[in-house]
Order: sequence, then structure tokens, then C-alpha cells
Amino acid sequence: MEKVVNLCKRRGFVYPGSEIYGGLGSSLDYGPLGVELKRNVKEAWWREIVTGRDDVVGLDAAIIMHPRVWEASGHLAGFTDPLVDCKGCKQRFRADQVAGPRCPECGGELTEARQFNLMFKTFVGPVEDTAHVAFLRPETAQSMFVNFRNVLETSRLKLPFGIAQIGRSFRNEITPGNFLFRTREFEQMELEFFVRPGEDEQWYDYWRSARLEWYARLGIKRDRLRLRPHGRDELAHYAKACVDVEYAFPFGWSELEGIANRTDFDLRRHSEYSGKDLTYFDEERRERYFPYVIEPAAGADRSTLAFLVDAYDEDEVEGEARIVLRLHPRLAPYKAAVFPLLRKDGQPERARRIYDALRGHFPVDYDQAGSIGRRYRRQDEVGTPFGITVDHDTMKDGTVTLRDRDATTQIRLAEDRLVEELRARIETPAT
Ligand code: GAP
Repeated sequence: MEKVVNLCKRRGFVYPGSEIYGGLGSSLDYGPLGVELKRNVKEAWWREIVTGRDDVVGLDAAIIMHPRVWEASGHLAGFTDPLVDCKGCKQRFRADQVAGPRCPECGGELTEARQFNLMFKTFVGPVEDTAHVAFLRPETAQSMFVNFRNVLETSRLKLPFGIAQIGRSFRNEITPGNFLFRTREFEQMELEFFVRPGEDEQWYDYWRSARLEWYARLGIKRDRLRLRPHGRDELAHYAKACVDVEYAFPFGWSELEGIANRTDFDLRRHSEYSGKDLTYFDEERRERYFPYVIEPAAGADRSTLAFLVDAYDEDEVEGEARIVLRLHPRLAPYKAAVFPLLRKDGQPERARRIYDALRGHFPVDYDQAGSIGRRYRRQDEVGTPFGITVDHDTMKDGTVTLRDRDATTQIRLAEDRLVEELRARIETPAT
């Protein structure tokens, strides 16, 4: 984990947030390469869940919603963690994470546990009184329920269908940590898939395996992925069943995504609290009912961390140690890097021309500093899957070498075939 954190800082994937002011506990900023990686993760999810299907549409809703939303959803009353304070060192802990009756830091006496609501509170407008209290959303899910009627009326969707969203959520976590794993501000990728009651269990099974497959197809090792069903005592108040997709992080098996059968809880509650009819009329069955919901809810930051950790490797090439990020080409920040072998004989100009042409198709890098070996190492370390080298022969016959990051093998091909070749290789699913 420490190696991944160091690499992230050193190569511009993730920086400590507000660093020049000493940082702000567990707030993190994505740097130039991190932002590309995370965008690729979100893009891969969106393609799989929204644009790649004909039964799911997207949404991008406001972060601050009407406060009644959180009454209806149950978050105001129940989105809490038990909190204890140490009377000695004043540190705070989640009661369920402290083993005994004493402070794990200083051995001091702990207060009785009290419930702490995890929602961030703010005020809408200039008046800071209770009538103007609002919350930053702790999950993106609720706006999909609140917009259920709008989507139904403005599309020609029939059950089963889904509404999906990628967006920021906020939770005032008592114990954030493990780098990108648990922060107070994070991005979720959530799908609310509405189905006929009675067909919910088959869709729950479908989404469980579909979601596990997605991580594996993007290169995560299968033996580091598992599905863990929630026990009865773990289930959220709205869920009939829930399973977590877990990844074997260096700090142990932990949740990447939760897939829940939310029944008709949310639509029923929002109907009740808003006074608006959120039922669905099933023309085939000639009946009206509240659809059930299967919800695969993933974290963009957590999956980015899992992709990074899983891709990190150290090996040896021609007797030299290297760090390599074996990221799936679709996720890699740069798809290729272009190098002139020598900084003379017109090679830099030719390499630049290839770089400029490729940039119209993919994010690519250009590097002419240092030995070719060092340049390969620099790109291996940030996961660039392909290296293109312009050499003496390029100047004669227009061919370049194409090097594969993982196998470190090279082929020669005509420079005008590069786009086609790279495109084919980037789209290849991981085996
Ligand atoms: N709508 C259901 C829901 O929000 P959740 O299990 O609380 O379910 C879904 O959250 C996903 O959001 C988690 O599996 C995780 O990937 C991500 N997530 C939740 N809290 C997070 C945090 N504090 N930091 C980073 N990611 C978080």
C-alpha cells in the first residue's frame, strides 16, 4: 500500500489535499495522471451500464436536495455511526471499531456511545437558522428515486429499466482512511434498476454476476475478487438482501461495491412524503404497483484504488529492476508514448509528427529525455501500455517499433498503421 501511495504522489496520480497548509485529514486531490485514470474508470462504467445498454438512462442531479428527501429516505433518523470520545486525549472513535472499554490510543476512559449523523449540514441562502438547513447528499441514489416520475414521463421506457448516475457524495466519516478507500468526499457510480415485484430475485442474481465480471474484464485478478453476502444484522433498513463485491486490498478484504435489493421501499416512502404518485402502470398486466429496485452501488475512488493496487508490480527487464503498472489499456492514463531513439538526424521532428497525429485519437505522451531504457521505465511506472520508437529505419522506410509494456516485446510496423493497431489493442478485453 505504501508503495502505491508513494508512486501516486511521485508521478502525479494523487496528492494530499491542501498540502501546502499541512493537509486536511483524508482529503485527497487527483493529479494529472490520476484524473485521467479515474475518468477512464468512470467512462468504462458508463459505457457498460448506460450507453452500452438499451434499458438504462443517465442522470446528473443536484448535490443539495430538498431536506424532506432525507426524512423520506431514512437518512435523517438513521444514517448514523456510534461515536465514543476519549476523556483523556479527546480523540474520537467509532464505537464498533474499539475493542474494549478503554481508549486504543492512550488507555483513557471512553464516554458512552452516542449516535452521530454522517450527513454534512449546510444552510441554503444567507440565513443560518433551522428553516434553512440542507444536507450534502450522502448517496446519489435518492435523486434517481425522486426523478423516477420525470424519467418515466420523458422516455418510453418500460419495466425493467434503470436510471444511473455518477456523482459526488459526502459523508462525515468518523474514521476515514486507507488512502482513497474511505474519504469524506467521494464519487459514486450508482444504478437503480427498476423491476416487477416477483422478478427482483432473478435481477439481483443477474447484477451480482454482471458487476463482478466488470472488474475482472478490466483486469482485476479473479482470485482477489469475491462476493460476500450481508448477514441479517448487517442489512440496511431498506434492503431485503445485499451482497458486497470485495477486493483483497493490502489491508484486507474490503467492499468495492454493494448490490442491494431495495424492494419498493424508496418509491413508496417518497410517494408518502411528497404526496405524489410514484407507482408504475404495467400495461401488460393491467395493474398499478411500486416497482422493486436492484441497486449496484460502486465507488469511483475505491475502484480506482483497486485498479492501481492490482496493477502494481515489480519485475526485472534485462537484468534491471522496474516498477510497472499493468493497467488495462482502457484505463491507462496514456495509451502510448512516442520516443525518438536519437536526438538528431530528424528523429525528434518525425516522432513529434507521429505524436501530434496520435493525439487526435488517444491521450499520448512524448519523451526524448534520457536513455531509451529509462524512458521505457518511466512509462512502465505510470502504466502506459505501448511505446513507439522512431529510429534510423523510420527515416528510411516509415516503420516504427511498437513495444508492449507487459511482455516487453517489440514489433515493427508502418507508422500509418499505428492508429488501427493501437485501437485494436486498447479494446481487447483482459483475459
Ligand atoms: N446507495 C447505496 C449506497 O450508497 P454504500 O455501500 O453506502 O451504498 C456505495 O456506498 C459505494 O460507495 C461503496 O461500495 C463504496 O465504493 C463507495 N463509498 C461509500 N462510502 C465511501 C467513502 N467514505 N469513501 C469512498 N467511497 C465510499
